[in-house]
Amino acid sequence: MDRPEPNSASPHQPVLYHQTLDFLEPASPGRYVDGTLGAGGHARGFLQASAPEGLLLGLDVDTHAIEIARRNTAEFAERITIRHGSYSDLALHLETIGWECIDGMLLDLGVSSMQLDNAARGFSFLKEAPLDMRFDESQKTSAAELVNQAGQKELAAILRNYGEEPRANQIADAIVRNRPFESTTQLANLVLAVYKGKRGKTHPATRTFQALRLATNSELEKLSEGLEQAVAALCSGGRLAVISFHSLEDRIVKQFFQRESRDCICPPEQVICTCGHKASVRAITKGAVAPSEEEIARNPRSRSAKLRVVEKI
Ligand SMILES: C[S@@+](CC[C@H](N)C(=O)[O-])C[C@H]1O[C@@H](n2cnc3c(N)ncnc32)[C@H](O)[C@@H]1O
Repeated sequence: MDRPEPNSASPHQPVLYHQTLDFLEPASPGRYVDGTLGAGGHARGFLQASAPEGLLLGLDVDTHAIEIARRNTAEFAERITIRHGSYSDLALHLETIGWECIDGMLLDLGVSSMQLDNAARGFSFLKEAPLDMRFDESQKTSAAELVNQAGQKELAAILRNYGEEPRANQIADAIVRNRPFESTTQLANLVLAVYKGKRGKTHPATRTFQALRLATNSELEKLSEGLEQAVAALCSGGRLAVISFHSLEDRIVKQFFQRESRDCICPPEQVICTCGHKASVRAITKGAVAPSEEEIARNPRSRSAKLRVVEKI
């Protein structure tokens, strides 16, 4: 069979596409989960490679993404089940479709090109829009609610913990003094003012926007929960691949995979194991796999991607 190629007309180009499929080795009649369906780019690869009988469950919390993915995978409609929901509720989704275990799963974290390019979603500080940033528009709390209602201490902690922002306190102070904030550019300009207009390699609002996005969508909490559920759901020999886009995500993935690859997780100074922990996975990737220079040149949004893969023992 020909090697599947991504659909070049898709509004989001799947990152590390061939590497992900090569590591996950989808085959007929396997059962797979794409936990972050997006435009369905990787999903098409799963479905092509696992023809004729491979099945895929695709999840996304964004109903706009689901619509696009449905169109992009229409030719495989009888082998794909698409659900609106979070990969952190994987166990529930698997129960409702009656799958006991899965042969492979992908989490391709973060924002899609459709979300970034649609100014109205509020993910980009370069475009004037309401301060929204929700992946799931049925969720109540948007970034505006956080910015306008959280206390100074809570805001500073969000900026520090989720954005690694060195001026977290100053920005949180300035937000509390100047609220309410309605729009992306209003907030970006305030951060620029805290930095006295100085721009480094990146706009000074980059870290604030990352922090607010992670907090609005509880992304890191969902990632930790999703990793636990994914490993628990894999059949023996099944594989989990995770593509992350910044150091906070990658650290969670790396530390989780390291812990789950070890037979004992007692503190190193403890001579006799009392935890009873048993390794549940083995590493398939040595370190993290990065995109090639050719991929970064073709798709600059892939530049910070890191792929890690484990296999259930
Ligand atoms: C980088 S895109 C995935 C792109 C996809 N692999 C493709 O090839 O088109 C990430 C997607 O994950 C979704 N997402 C974010 N958090 C999620 C969660 N907790 N559960 C399910 N989907 C989530 C976003 O809405 C977005 O559509």
